[in-house]
Amino acid sequence: MTHSPRKIIIDTDPGQDDAVAILLALASPEDLEILGITTVAGNVPLSLTQKNARIICELAGKTATKVFAGCDVPLKRKLVTAEHVHGKTGLDGPKMADPIMPLQEQHAVDFIIETLRAEEPHTVTLCPLGPLTNIATAFNRAPDIINRVQQIVLMGGAYFEVGNITPAAEFNIYVDPEAAEIVFKSGVSLVVMPLDVTHKALTNRARIEAFRSIGNEVGRMVAEWADFFERFDMQKYGSEGAPLHDPCVIAYLIQPDLFTGRHISVKIETQSELTLGMTVADWWGVTKDPANALFMGGVDATGFYALLTKRLARL
Ligand code: RIB
Ligand code: CA
Repeated sequence: MTHSPRKIIIDTDPGQDDAVAILLALASPEDLEILGITTVAGNVPLSLTQKNARIICELAGKTATKVFAGCDVPLKRKLVTAEHVHGKTGLDGPKMADPIMPLQEQHAVDFIIETLRAEEPHTVTLCPLGPLTNIATAFNRAPDIINRVQQIVLMGGAYFEVGNITPAAEFNIYVDPEAAEIVFKSGVSLVVMPLDVTHKALTNRARIEAFRSIGNEVGRMVAEWADFFERFDMQKYGSEGAPLHDPCVIAYLIQPDLFTGRHISVKIETQSELTLGMTVADWWGVTKDPANALFMGGVDATGFYALLTKRLARL
């Protein structure tokens, strides 16, 4: 029985790992119908994330994809970016030409609201790969869309793996903790890919060479991004390779059995400067707080990279 592709909106702050996630989604039309790609400030400012998203679509030869620019600052705080990880452009590594395909006129938040109102209820999945500012702004502006969302599958947070931007917080949540709190309290079915799982999906020499040996432009670019991206994590963690964070979200939509996790209560710290942006995950069920998220902890890394390499070869 053939299933119809799942309708998704990818909300993103490219970023090399966002790029690989977007390419995996674009290479999977039988599984995913991308209604639009909405961009947000995060790894680098919005002026670059909206440009990078179009560069990635052009690399995949999918120039009909609708790309929107969204929020350029968090709900309440100054923007924190991550050029130290992703480089000045956000896609450092290979040299990339400016995009030719157009940016959509409509604001990303208006696109999210309009799409959720137009599509049948519970048929659109939101896939945030960066700070949650666009999603939270849409929920604030149009609360009626909240119970129309099918599911939110996001990359963000950390528990056993602790933080990557502060000792307590993961970057996407830390940049806009108030937005994250709105999403985590929204009641929408949540699947969370925290550092606990993405740090088990590490690149290594063989996996990067497998990308390069695909033999197409996409494989070459992904290998060069991975080469650039891994230097930060290798220095920081001493680990071989870098975690491909964001592609875990898309891989879950295509092959959920690659991942294991628990339905638990996850709350966001928004008050304490010391632990701002921490995802307080009740993994051991020590409270009676209701579960609001499927919080992932394990991944079949071999299967993940096999899926990724196979699908990227299609582009
Ligand atoms: O902490 C990792 C996350 O922050 C990833 O989504 C990466 O792209 C950055 O946005
Ligand atoms: Ca990202």
